[in-house]
Amino acid sequence: MNKTAVLKHTKITVAGLAAKQNGITVIQLSDLHETELYNFDIAAHILEQQPDLLLVTGDMMDRPHNSGDRFIEILKALDNRVPVYGCTGNHEYDVQHGRFPENYRNFMKQTAALGVRWLIDETIEISVRGEPLLLCGLSGERFRPMRYETVRAHLPKPCDKPLIVLCHNPDWFDCIAPKCTCLMLSGHVHGGLWRLPLIGGLIGPSLAVLPFYDLGLFRYKSSCLHISGGFGDTAMKFRFNNPRELNLLTLYSEGTRECNHEHSVDRPRPLSFAIMTLAALLLVLCFLWMRPCTSTALSLALMLCAVCARLCKRRLFTGLKRRFGIVYYIAWLIFFAGLFTIFLQNIIIHASFV
Ligand SMILES: [Fe+2]
Repeated sequence: MNKTAVLKHTKITVAGLAAKQNGITVIQLSDLHETELYNFDIAAHILEQQPDLLLVTGDMMDRPHNSGDRFIEILKALDNRVPVYGCTGNHEYDVQHGRFPENYRNFMKQTAALGVRWLIDETIEISVRGEPLLLCGLSGERFRPMRYETVRAHLPKPCDKPLIVLCHNPDWFDCIAPKCTCLMLSGHVHGGLWRLPLIGGLIGPSLAVLPFYDLGLFRYKSSCLHISGGFGDTAMKFRFNNPRELNLLTLYSEGTRECNHEHSVDRPRPLSFAIMTLAALLLVLCFLWMRPCTSTALSLALMLCAVCARLCKRRLFTGLKRRFGIVYYIAWLIFFAGLFTIFLQNIIIHASFV
């Protein structure tokens, strides 16, 4: 288990932010999962930065533990010195609807008493530096199907003030951003766990391969999505090239500064696309040279299609995954099974020569 964590600073331009709010600072804490690092004191880092807001984006509880004691300790250390707002994540949802719903109720009660204003599918108006700011919290787990219409009632109408949406699952950005200009803060993906240069995260929640929304900033027109890599871990503990993070966000009004790096949602990532396609083609050639079985060739072709679709056209891929998601995962399974079979065959052939 990787024991390092960083305080990551990101600059974001937010549509509609008043001139007086230019440069406000927000700490985003996501996916704590009962994790404690003795060499990184979260509360001390927060107090040192003196942020205008501490925004929590879910998974402060952890399903296997059915508790959120670590977050409660942090709140006690903060001692109401920073305003805290938060949305819940899938782990809070699972505890609430699992065998220990009283744990969820106690957690919500204790954290509220320690100063957290939970936003459970609601929007509130707060004042930051004397100017209004809308804060919306969505517990996306409750809403199916994943469409704007299913959450519209909880978003402000009209979106005429700067709006920050807290939503654990970043996939909701596709539904919300085209309809409602906002800065959305999310977590959930843990940065894709194992990160490769240019390609990004490899594994998302529920073993999704190559999650598109993995880490950092994404922009759709004037809306922006920031995904935290999260501080903790749950089932899969091992991260690669993906430190745990507490996020310090500085928000700027439009025209004063650009985001420090971003991915446009509608634009493919050309370099990643070229590298992945080349790698996939090389793999196909290698397997053809080794005379693979039909299932391996088929799974390779499917994998190539899935990777191209993911990198080339996000919306096409999202639609396909929603409709044929299981086929996509089965294709990956067949691919790895095929790979393993050929690997074994080669070892046996090699061993027989020796
Ligand atoms: Fe999480």
